Amino acid sequence: MDLLDPSLYADGSIHRHFRQLEPVSWQPRPGYWAVLGYPEAHRVLSEPANFSSAFGTGIVSDARAHFVSLNLSDPPVHTPLRRHLSHWLKTLQPDFHPEIEPLRGLPRQTLQAILQIGETQASQLQQLAVRIAYAPHKATWRQAEDELVVQLALLHTPLGMHLSTTDRLYLLRLLVLSGLESTTTALASLCQHRPQPALIEEMLRLHPPIQRFGRRVMRDLRLGPCDLKEGDRVLVFFAAANRDPRVFSQPHQWRLGRPPHLSFGAGPHRCPGASLARRQLHWLAPNPPPPPERYYRSSFSAGPNFG
Ligand code: HEM
Repeated sequence: MDLLDPSLYADGSIHRHFRQLEPVSWQPRPGYWAVLGYPEAHRVLSEPANFSSAFGTGIVSDARAHFVSLNLSDPPVHTPLRRHLSHWLKTLQPDFHPEIEPLRGLPRQTLQAILQIGETQASQLQQLAVRIAYAPHKATWRQAEDELVVQLALLHTPLGMHLSTTDRLYLLRLLVLSGLESTTTALASLCQHRPQPALIEEMLRLHPPIQRFGRRVMRDLRLGPCDLKEGDRVLVFFAAANRDPRVFSQPHQWRLGRPPHLSFGAGPHRCPGASLARRQLHWLAPNPPPPPERYYRSSFSAGPNFG
């Protein structure tokens, strides 16, 4: 059984597989520790000195980034950039206006506020974000990435102006790629499950829009009952941790007043856009449109396919 098989996420059968595994287990393909337990996942996300983001947050470790990047760095490098972005996001009051198609409209209007750009420019960035997230081949991905950088270089947003050109472009790119698809997926989930506003957090717990993030183990250590070695890869699976019966009693049921879920992460990299995402969900909750009919297949984030 392969926890990264997209079809397991499409039909929800991933939860059956999660239940058969220990809170931490070695997965041979392509070779990583699957972290499924809530306390273990929380620890991985909260201890950057032991579990680093600097070698990528995907399935396999990459080389260390050659630029200063928010998501691919650890404290103390991460801290000032994070403070700068959080301060910027806190001042924003995105203006939502009714849209024929809110699932793309709300994230786009939010991006317009973040980057201080108009609708046409934001739409172009949104199309590129989808092409990058669901690119069928490396070549199509590379082409969309190049086009995105060209577009971002034209922006005048004051965010990150003190950074080098490369670092600033990477920050703007990160905002486009992390903010749009995740929120579109969450809004689609809202249209499917139609929760009362008070149960939006339960929806995020039970149906995380983003499935997993990875870290590199920085020293030999023990996680749960397992001995991990320096250089090992760990992948935290949010949907599993959010249903850990040690923390959430009757975890598959919708209930108010649960402990905090991990769908926005935890620790220093916890999503800085969480309140912007929640704002969109609460805006749409009283009157959600019918859910989209088609979705992309992905083990990371399977958003609606409007193509
Ligand atoms: C429902 C929608 C969203 C979900 C589920 C989500 C989820 C996440 C998660 C799990 C992380 C942690 C990554 C890690 O630990 O490596 C993260 C980080 C991040 N998110 Fe979100 N996100 C959402 C919306 C947004 C929005 C609207 C923005 C735009 C501001 C955004 C910007 C970011 C950025 C910049 C990071 C990296 C933070 C850092 O490394 O310090 N996200 N997000």
